[in-house]
Amino acid sequence: MFSRALLTYEYSVLFPCSCIQIDFNQGIDPGAPFSEYPGSPTHALYDKFDAASQPVSTRGEYAWQDLGLGDIRGPCADLNAAANHGYLPRDGIATAETINTGLWEASGLDKTATLFLQTTTMFFDGDPLSGRWSIGYHSDKTQSLGIVGDLLGNETGICAYGHLKTEGDASITREEWLEAGMNSNRASYPEFAQELLDLAKARTGGNLTPQVMTEHQYNRKQHSITTNPNYFSPAYAGIAFTFGAHMFAYELLANHSAEYPRGFVKLEVFESFSSSTRDANNKLVFTYGHERVPENWYHRADDDAWTLTDILISIAQQCLSYPSNCQVGGNTGEVNSFSGVDLAILLVILLTLLLI
Ligand code: HEM
Repeated sequence: MFSRALLTYEYSVLFPCSCIQIDFNQGIDPGAPFSEYPGSPTHALYDKFDAASQPVSTRGEYAWQDLGLGDIRGPCADLNAAANHGYLPRDGIATAETINTGLWEASGLDKTATLFLQTTTMFFDGDPLSGRWSIGYHSDKTQSLGIVGDLLGNETGICAYGHLKTEGDASITREEWLEAGMNSNRASYPEFAQELLDLAKARTGGNLTPQVMTEHQYNRKQHSITTNPNYFSPAYAGIAFTFGAHMFAYELLANHSAEYPRGFVKLEVFESFSSSTRDANNKLVFTYGHERVPENWYHRADDDAWTLTDILISIAQQCLSYPSNCQVGGNTGEVNSFSGVDLAILLVILLTLLLI
């Protein structure tokens, strides 16, 4: 009773716009239509563009470079692209300072969000003493205590054995570390990228929107439940991070212009950021470490940044639209054996507190 009232209240606050277009006859039926402009309601009204402060340079010191010997890349399209362009250290070893300045300059990720992501990642996957962590698999460069540090535990980096700390299953295009066969959690699998692009074409004619991203996420979770006996979705890696990454693909990869001050993600933009090209048969091909910031790409406006509050609100919105995605749990050694605990109500309460 209480939860239904709360859902109704939240729905009216967050989805006041009757112009939201959701096709209920195709695909799955969302519990509540997912917002066209998720996060804080102010983003829906943003209408400014500044050609001086929003362009992201891909020239000079920020020119794209191929990987050098030992350079590391991982599951995050943007950390990889930022390192390839020198916004982050090109060897793939991040520090608090380089993440704070690099992600702001390269993506317009607000410092509240960066601080949270950087701090948790450093603790889960890196070296809390030096603040260093690898944007991919384990690197000896993060360790500051030598052999003593090794005895204390493996600084995994965000993928490979970093699995289920920040990196999770049912990712946008990566596979699952504990799935037999296709199990790289840092390679982008063209079949999943193609599924996303096909969905975008079906729903919008070819642009990635927040609604497309949430529907893709639902599809990816169903795929994992039906194919990976070891699929698991913990609260942080599975709900917070995977949900966060799905929103980043629109909120922070979108290109901006005077015509589209709130951003616009063409498929080519996503392909460039996710290191995908086309072969002679127009099939997607992934190349490790070739993520690029597209030419003439403009990040979010400084006064319309994507903040930690936006991340939390959009996670709760995703839970409202696709409650089954919000369950913490996993398969129990067999496919289709998912057993989970529902976090949706907790997240809606959190959202209510944020909005008060
Ligand atoms: C400190 C900041 C960040 C950290 C620690 C981080 C980490 C990660 C991790 C662990 C994943 C894998 C998620 C999963 O398993 O589902 C991921 C994926 C992703 N991230 Fe980030 N990320 C950060 C910032 C960003 C930013 C600023 C953007 C966009 C501009 C971004 C865009 C993406 C995208 C699009 C993916 C999905 C890749 C795919 O599955 O194809 N990330 N990130």
